[in-house]
Amino acid sequence: MSEMEDLRVTACERCPELVESRNRIVNGTGPDDAELLFVGEGPGANEDAEGEPFVGRSGSVLDDGLRAIGVDRSAVRITNCVRCRPPENRDPTTEELANCRGYLETEIDRLGPEVIVTLGKVPSEHLLERSVAVTKEAGEIEEVRIGGEPRRVLINVHPAATLYDRSQSETFESTLEQAADLAGLENSSDQSRLDGF
Ligand code: URA
Repeated sequence: MSEMEDLRVTACERCPELVESRNRIVNGTGPDDAELLFVGEGPGANEDAEGEPFVGRSGSVLDDGLRAIGVDRSAVRITNCVRCRPPENRDPTTEELANCRGYLETEIDRLGPEVIVTLGKVPSEHLLERSVAVTKEAGEIEEVRIGGEPRRVLINVHPAATLYDRSQSETFESTLEQAADLAGLENSSDQSRLDGF
């Protein structure tokens, strides 16, 4: 796909409403060989303003969660199902998800991550291609074919869910920990304990 040789979509006008509502296309961020890939729903106002996924309140929750398990945001890749902000933050439509699917599949193919973590209902249902009760299923791993390749998908709640339901924080955190383990990411707090010796 020549539109995204370096994994950046720089010009796309497939979704007329999104072209209208966006200020910019928000591409994935992080190493293009990351073992851990987070997939959110789509950019919100902050992401649309800054051009990076998960930089608003949800992003702070994600960053804090990663920090708590000793993983730096710069070690993981973060992207979204759609790269343009939907008007009034509505969910992306089936057609918009389909229009953006190729970009996501190219990103997943290039990375070949150990694990893909879905953040919330929209990315979980998009990648697993079934209904998902996210709160109940968070922490479950499923192998699915994405772009023809088998991939390991770990369901998580959306970081924003922890803001209005504190009981979801524990689920969110333990699923992050599980993800880091599966991806073989070094926990720097373990490391600092070792450094003490
Ligand atoms: N929520 C998402 O799903 N994605 C973002 O980039 C920000 C908030």
